[in-house]
Amino acid sequence: MDDHKLNVVLLFGGRSGEHEVSLNSARSIYKAIDRNRYKVETIGISKQGQWFWGVLPETLLKDGFPEPNESIQVNLVIDPTNPRFMSLNGHTLPDQGKFDLIFPVLHGPFGEDGTLQGLLEMANVPYVGSGVLGSSLGMDKDRMKAVFLEKNLPLARYVTLLRSDLLNGPEQCLNEIEETIGYPCFVKPANLGSSVGISKAHDREELMEALKTAAIFDRKIVIEETIIGQEIEVSVLGNDAPIASIPGEVLPAQEFYTYEAKYSNIGSSLLIPAALEDSVIKELQSMAIEAFRAVEANGLSRVDFFVTSKREIFVNEINTLPGFTEISMYPKLWEATGIPYPELIDRLISLGLERFKDKQISKISI
Ligand SMILES: Nc1ncnc2c1ncn2[C@@H]1O[C@H](COP(=O)(O)OP(=O)(O)O)[C@@H](O)[C@H]1O
Ligand SMILES: [Mg+2]
Repeated sequence: MDDHKLNVVLLFGGRSGEHEVSLNSARSIYKAIDRNRYKVETIGISKQGQWFWGVLPETLLKDGFPEPNESIQVNLVIDPTNPRFMSLNGHTLPDQGKFDLIFPVLHGPFGEDGTLQGLLEMANVPYVGSGVLGSSLGMDKDRMKAVFLEKNLPLARYVTLLRSDLLNGPEQCLNEIEETIGYPCFVKPANLGSSVGISKAHDREELMEALKTAAIFDRKIVIEETIIGQEIEVSVLGNDAPIASIPGEVLPAQEFYTYEAKYSNIGSSLLIPAALEDSVIKELQSMAIEAFRAVEANGLSRVDFFVTSKREIFVNEINTLPGFTEISMYPKLWEATGIPYPELIDRLISLGLERFKDKQISKISI
């Protein structure tokens, strides 16, 4: 073993609808990470949520997950004095399963929403990205908006409903939305990503359908007015003193930036830098940092905006674990701002270690 190298565990796959996206992000990181500085172990999480040691994102993308009995299934040992991985089926792991840092490359529920982060906190291990609070605020579109409003960030008009509201009084729900939001409107499950379960409703009938669809995915549903404008994204990097990249623009290939538009070959294109005036760029950057701070994010986030032709700005959302392939917006924006992909990985690892050290200073009890 090279003692001077930091032992990083890449964690990818997962139970969410963004499983494949995660594998693609992890494949890029696995390829680009600096082997002179890091020893890399890999853990793939299956769609069922089982953790497998030593599988490669590239292979999983091609062949899917191995059968549990043909692979090394592991668990994280929750022992803050000796955090490590352990095989559940009798295999010996290199370095007794010990490591220096976990790099979660997981998007959506059970990866980006604070649940995984809670597990990592319990085991007392350093990891890349936001903690429990930042991750969960960044995932829940309703609570995210609440903290954004507290910081006076500009948002599209919205209402939040519960699935039970919809079941108990569908007509009242439709009326309320028509009175406060109007058509066309966007209907979203509060806690997902990659546009899953999101629809644009143009009339009462479509609205009812859209609400039913969103209710399949979450008990909480967010309905927003439609903003007509450019879709602009800004990358943020840091812990207590975050910095913002130049903005990029998404040119969706479909009516809006749907799952297909995001990931299929008919592909939406990215315009970097976005076609915007300097004053608007500055404003976007400062809002991106404000949004990052509002949810108490750490390490990395991508903040997404709408900018109208009158140069009115609306914050759409923050993503605390944005897509991370070499051609994804998050790293592309940093590259254009002067931080190449491998250096970005370095910085994120350093920020994860920094945050861990900072946490160790705080006493847990007297
Ligand atoms: N209020 C809105 N006005 C106009 N377009 C919207 C609005 N909300 C969402 N969209 C479109 O839908 C896409 C997905 O919505 P978003 O809130 O970003 O969900 P996700 O978290 O799944 O990415 C956006 O990228 C955009 O194209
Ligand atoms: Mg989005």
